[in-house]
Amino acid sequence: MEEQQQQHLWWQTDVIYQIYPRSYQDSNGDGIGDLQGVIQRLDHLKWLGINAVWLSPIYPSPMADFGYDIADYTGIHPLFGSLDDFDQLLNEIHSRGMKLILDLVPNHTSDQHPWFLESRSSRDNPKRDWYIWKDPLPDGLPPNNWLSVFGGSGWEWDDQTQQYYYHAFLREQPDLNWRNPEVQQAMLDVMRFWLDKGVDGFRVDVMWHMIKDSQFRDNPVNPDYQSHMATYEQLYPVYSTDQAEVHDIVRQMRDVLDQYDERMMIGEIYLPIQKLMMYYGIDGKGAHLPFNFQLLSLSWDAQLIAGAIDQYEAALPPTGWPNWVLGNHDQPRITSRVGVQQARVAAMLLLTLRGTPTIYYGDEIGMRDVPIPFEEVQDPQGLNMPDKNLSRDPSRTPMQWDNSEHAGFTTAKPWLRLARNFARENVLAQKNDPFSMLTLYRRLIELRQQEPSLMIGNYVPVHSDNQVMAFIRQAEGHPGFLIVLNLSHRPCYVKPKHGPLKGTIVLATYPELEGGTIEETISLAGDEGIIVRLSS
Ligand code: GLC
Repeated sequence: MEEQQQQHLWWQTDVIYQIYPRSYQDSNGDGIGDLQGVIQRLDHLKWLGINAVWLSPIYPSPMADFGYDIADYTGIHPLFGSLDDFDQLLNEIHSRGMKLILDLVPNHTSDQHPWFLESRSSRDNPKRDWYIWKDPLPDGLPPNNWLSVFGGSGWEWDDQTQQYYYHAFLREQPDLNWRNPEVQQAMLDVMRFWLDKGVDGFRVDVMWHMIKDSQFRDNPVNPDYQSHMATYEQLYPVYSTDQAEVHDIVRQMRDVLDQYDERMMIGEIYLPIQKLMMYYGIDGKGAHLPFNFQLLSLSWDAQLIAGAIDQYEAALPPTGWPNWVLGNHDQPRITSRVGVQQARVAAMLLLTLRGTPTIYYGDEIGMRDVPIPFEEVQDPQGLNMPDKNLSRDPSRTPMQWDNSEHAGFTTAKPWLRLARNFARENVLAQKNDPFSMLTLYRRLIELRQQEPSLMIGNYVPVHSDNQVMAFIRQAEGHPGFLIVLNLSHRPCYVKPKHGPLKGTIVLATYPELEGGTIEETISLAGDEGIIVRLSS
């Protein structure tokens, strides 16, 4: 085991855990999570078996997009603490043998960032070209039809200098001009600042947005647009995103990382598989892990999902390491998408697939999307398109630690309301319950970390139909594992065509099955998933 693992790096063998810092743990009684709070909870993560933490942005920010609008790339927002708190956090993480991944947001800054304040001050300011400024069309209209992801035009008129600037997200988040070498150098310096401190990697925000068409051509109309969809989807963003030149930028970032020891970069990229694969870079010199978001959007159908896994496995470049995600701070939680029963099956899928899993905070206790009353909505995406139910607040609610007044998250009123059921569903209540989601997650992670076949072994599809999927994970010289997952609520049978397979069930979504052996035809109840240690 030691020897095989040594050929793999930490970001291949560890389980990554995403913390949304506003919602994890408040230490100073202001209702908002902070860095000292995260430090207090590191032992929970260690106990869970987590070895790498990704922190959503903690930098100074006017918070128009809750930290994804950055006003200073090398500072810490006072809400979250200070640089000293950060150094302490990094230390505490490293001393537990864990890694820290920071969020890097290179596509855009806050409109309050000094770079933008300078850039907008006059047309001949040296930083004018750091952002994307364009003249209006002769009739005064924006330079092209590009839309903002958060609704409305992507162009904002600046009265003082009589030009438009481009913002893929909020008008408070102007896009940087990545064709400008000074911008490139400035952002690579930001990376060096954190790498010099010892940060282990970055999750790079909207990587596929970073370079736009040099001719600024209009995006084509999406003929499949329907009114319930976000207004941004009216067009195909073919000229505003995923331009060939982005790969040169990613390569530059990679070169910086490669000057350090074992640092890594995850790319946030919502693209179809073939395009996603390009982000691994030529000769694997791009992003280490271009986020694979397929499980966030596919219908919960065994055949569909098995097929998507195969497509992904087949499309991976030879050196490309896979990864899987069930949720993040922009998406509905898995429990709300597939239901509590299937969320257990989903956990087993995430933690038995080949490739690095990323767990979204709270999913380990089966947190659900929390209904936020209309007047309390805070997310700009929700506020800007109020009729489309797109607010991301429901999946960003405070972590449920115990049954005390504010779930152990804070002593004050939390910035976003807690789930109504937090007194029942929380870490403390689930910790010693053998049937809880938390126990399932912990045991899945433990098994994955103990068994080379599950951690680094091959993926071999065995079966899929309209209810159930099955696959084998196998590392050379180690016992293989058969994973059978019933993605439906009804009983099912599976007769693996590779069979008859022999083995013992070592972990199941419902522990009653554990210790049993499998028959030639395996039968499962609805919502059941099993991991079988194969003996032949
Ligand atoms: C990414 C972030 C999201 C943010 C957006 C703009 O998609 O995950 O939360 O709103 O970028 O920065």
